[in-house]
Amino acid sequence: MSVRDDAITAHGGGELVDLKAPVSERAALAAHGAKLAAVTLNARDLADLEMLASGAFSPLTGFMGEADYIRSRDEMRLASGVPWSIPITLGVDETTVKELKAGQDIALATEDGRRPAILKLAEIYKVDRKSEAQNVFGTAEDAHPGAKNVTSMPPYCLAGKLTLIEEIPGRTFLEFPREPRQTRAAFRERGWKKIVAFQTRNPTHRAHEYIQKAALEICDGLMIHPLVGETKGDDVPAAVRMETYKVLLDLYYPKNRAMIGVFPAHMRYGGPREAILHAIARRNYGCTHFIVGRDHAGVGNYYGSYDAQKIFERFEPSEMGITPLMFENTFYCKRCNSMASFKTCPHTDEDRLILSGTKVREMLRAGDAPPPEFTRPELAAILVRAMHEAK
Ligand code: ADX
Repeated sequence: MSVRDDAITAHGGGELVDLKAPVSERAALAAHGAKLAAVTLNARDLADLEMLASGAFSPLTGFMGEADYIRSRDEMRLASGVPWSIPITLGVDETTVKELKAGQDIALATEDGRRPAILKLAEIYKVDRKSEAQNVFGTAEDAHPGAKNVTSMPPYCLAGKLTLIEEIPGRTFLEFPREPRQTRAAFRERGWKKIVAFQTRNPTHRAHEYIQKAALEICDGLMIHPLVGETKGDDVPAAVRMETYKVLLDLYYPKNRAMIGVFPAHMRYGGPREAILHAIARRNYGCTHFIVGRDHAGVGNYYGSYDAQKIFERFEPSEMGITPLMFENTFYCKRCNSMASFKTCPHTDEDRLILSGTKVREMLRAGDAPPPEFTRPELAAILVRAMHEAK
């Protein structure tokens, strides 16, 4: 069997996109890039650039052009018809646009002046960020962190093919695989065929562990895939979360069945639409299954608890190419004397230990560990130390 035969195709059915320039061409491209007009990217733009360059956003080969933008915003598809639920754009203001013309090469720069990529500018178009937010998030309110990020983006979009000429500066957690080619190789090495991915932006608690292990019962391997791009200010920082995942894996998972990968995307808090994007990207990472639990990628009360599961009905399983594994609200039940869910527990909320994320963060900041039925004590100790000290 060739190396490719055991790997699932990239999203859209083709090969993984690779926008990295061959090493032999990088010096010449860097010299070319140094002479070009440059546009400066913020942390979220850079995260998108990294996702595009590594193929995590296959089949996209650059920030979206207008046809893909409109159709993904309005119909959750690319112009080609392939499912895509959230526009990926590079926004610039009017002053910048006045200096640019379609057809030219421009350098994409970091705030400290590095120029990691070149964009062959194919299109410049103007969008309405309020209606984008309304379509994607169901709201354009500033209280929704994803909507606020979108409405704060400038209205002109630059689109075209990207070439990455050096790794994006400031990447973290490099001891873990963070690109689709790396995770696919890791799965091959381990001989896993059915791989379930777990998206997370929160420290692991017992409900996470329960649904991960339930999924692992029917798969060969589990990839815990924490999002490490920008999150909202009161979420637990990625470095602290990573500590908890490492300890959890070390103490409570068989070595040959679970691994940690790193997901460099930023968090959009887009509930159902983000669940689709998360699943698509995990297919690109080589996963066959994807966990979607209660209020996936949700924030506040913007989405129903299971909206992120229902939205998968809008797509054919074959066009998604990754199978969602849906889980109901999961908790510890004193009468069951075990973890359980609305699906398996006949008791009432009085018997159940249900703590909101906000409540847990409050406890941690006050130096209190959540009960062991909620968070493993070894992980609670890490969280209390980090959150209490950070106060
Ligand atoms: S998310 O924003 O990345 O979705 P989080 O890290 O809390 O937040 O959740 C990771 C995954 O676990 C998501 O699929 C979410 O739906 C699921 N999940 C979290 N808590 C529970 C729970 N108590 N019961 C069922 N699923 C849950």
